[in-house]
Amino acid sequence: MITLTVNGVLRRLDIDPATPLLYALRGELGLNGAKFGCGLGQCGACTVIVEGAPVFACLLPVAALQDRQVTTIEGLGSVDKPNPLQQAFVHEQAAQCGYCIAGMVMRAQALLDRNPAPTDPEIRAWMEPNLCRCGTHMRILKAIRRASDALQPEEPSPEVDR
Ligand code: FES
Ligand code: FES
Repeated sequence: MITLTVNGVLRRLDIDPATPLLYALRGELGLNGAKFGCGLGQCGACTVIVEGAPVFACLLPVAALQDRQVTTIEGLGSVDKPNPLQQAFVHEQAAQCGYCIAGMVMRAQALLDRNPAPTDPEIRAWMEPNLCRCGTHMRILKAIRRASDALQPEEPSPEVDR
């Protein structure tokens, strides 16, 4: 029996401990946001967050995740209530086929969680492991920039002499 905490909910799974996390999420828990792309840690379509870090769910056996916090895209928001990063992806229309997008959002979320104000070069370097076959990278970068800008505290408005 494997115990996982996924999106804040404790889940007990009667599966082979060597099962990749991605198969457990999709096959056992019905969380289909993370996608199977290469199965080799080379595309990022399966990216989820474990304890604050982006990981390739296709490579990690569930046994390595006992009692660790796993967050999938379903844990960020929903169609009705997207979180700020998801909203930014929608605003920038940052998708074509959409296959890579859940992974992109999760990798970007892990960045903004640790650094809400990354520079553009930092965003590019961080997102490098995730690939988009449709070539939507520029829009994805714009969406992350937009979400980051939305997280910044508002400048106090200048005093006006009366
Ligand atoms: S499916 Fe996991 S990195 Fe490609
Ligand atoms: S939107 Fe198609 S792979 Fe990225």
